[in-house]
Amino acid sequence: MLNVDKLTNLLPGKMRERVDAYFEALDVFMEIRDPKVLAALGPSGVRGLLLRRGKQGRPSHMPASHDATFDWTYPADFPEMAELYRRAKQGQWDSDVDIDWSTDVDPVNPEVPLLPRSFLDFDGLRRAGIRLNEKEQTEVTFSVAAWMLSQFLHGEQGALFAAAQVTEAVQFFDGKLYGATQVMDEGRHVEVYNRYLDEKLNRLYSINDNLFVIIDSLMTDSRWDMKFLGMQIMVEGLALGAFGVMYQQTKEPLLKSILRRVIQDEARHVHYGVLALREHFLNNLSERERREREEWSFEVALLMRNRFMAYEVYEEWFEGLMSREQWRTFITNTPGMRQFRQVMFSRLVPNLRAIGLMSPRILPHYERAGLMRFFDGRAADQLSEEQLLFELDGGDILAAAQ
Ligand SMILES: [Fe+2]
Ligand SMILES: [Fe+2]
Repeated sequence: MLNVDKLTNLLPGKMRERVDAYFEALDVFMEIRDPKVLAALGPSGVRGLLLRRGKQGRPSHMPASHDATFDWTYPADFPEMAELYRRAKQGQWDSDVDIDWSTDVDPVNPEVPLLPRSFLDFDGLRRAGIRLNEKEQTEVTFSVAAWMLSQFLHGEQGALFAAAQVTEAVQFFDGKLYGATQVMDEGRHVEVYNRYLDEKLNRLYSINDNLFVIIDSLMTDSRWDMKFLGMQIMVEGLALGAFGVMYQQTKEPLLKSILRRVIQDEARHVHYGVLALREHFLNNLSERERREREEWSFEVALLMRNRFMAYEVYEEWFEGLMSREQWRTFITNTPGMRQFRQVMFSRLVPNLRAIGLMSPRILPHYERAGLMRFFDGRAADQLSEEQLLFELDGGDILAAAQ
C-alpha cells in the first residue's frame, strides 16, 4: 500500500476509510509493471474500482467486440476436444433430479457449519481489540461463507457469458461443440449457487470490485485467446481452488453435494482451456504476442492473490470498530484464505507451464513471488475430474494438486 497514513489519520473515520479504498484501487494500478497490461486492464479498473459499476444495483452493459468465426465445412479438427465433448455430454446433470433440495439448512447451526470457525483467525481479531462470543464467531463465519458463495455466483455469471463468447470466437470446430456444453454447465452453476443462496441462506453479497474488473476486461477484449486465458485458466483456476477448499471444509451436506458436481464440470473447463491455448500459442502467436500474454498472466495472478478481502463482510460487521487496513491484515492471514491462495496457485502454475507461458525469462518473477514450488505440479490435461475428486476426498488438497 502507499504510505498515506499520515494524511489519512487526520481525517474523520468514515472519510478515512473511503480514502483508504481509493488508494487501494490506485495501488492495484501501481503494481502493474507492464504498460501493455495496464492499457488492457485500465479502463475496466476505472469502471470497477473507481466507478464501482458492479455495486449500483442495476444491470451492467459491457460492449463485446470479438469476431464470431463460422466454418461451413464442419471439420473434425481437434480429437481431444471431441473426446472432451463426449465426456461433457455424459457428465450432464440435472439440479432438480441430482441435488436434494429438501435438505434442511441452518447456516448458524454449529453442528453443521458451512465453514468451520477455524477458517478465520479470531485470535487475530482479538489482537485488533475485537472480542466475539461463540455465537458471534459462528455468525461472522457464516457471513464469510455466504460472501464467498456470492462471489462464486458472480464468477459463474461471468463464466456463462465468457463461455458463450468463446464458443462464437474459437476457430476449432470441435471446440465450438464442446463450448456448447460448457455454456450449459455454467448456466447450471448460476442456477444452483443462486438457488442455494436464495432459498437456503437468504443472502447475496454484491460483486467484489476486483472480480468485476477481471470480468469486464475479458468481456470487452476482442482477442479470443485473452478471454480464454483469463476465464478458462485464471478465473476457472481460481474458482477450482476456492471450490476445492470449501468442498473440503464444509460440513453442510447440500452445499457439499453442489460443490462436488460443480468441481467435476470445472475440471473439464480448465482442461479445455489448456488444450486450446497450448495449440494456439505454439502455432499461431509471434514471440512478442506470447510474451505479452506471459506478462499479463503473471500480473493478473498477483492481482488475484491478495485482492479478495471480503470488505462487504467488514462493512457489515466491523466498520467503525477497526480500520480497513486492520481488516486487510486479518483476512489476508486467516488460515482459510492462506489455504485458498496455496491451492489456487498449485492449480494455476502447472497450467500456465503447460500452455507455454512460463519461459525462462519470467521464472525469476515467479521465484520472487514464492510460486516456483508449484512448477512441477500436474496440469489440468493430466488430471481427470474423477481423479481430482478422489484426491480431494482423500484429505490432502495440496497433494491432489501436485
Ligand atoms: Fe462454472
Ligand atoms: Fe467453468
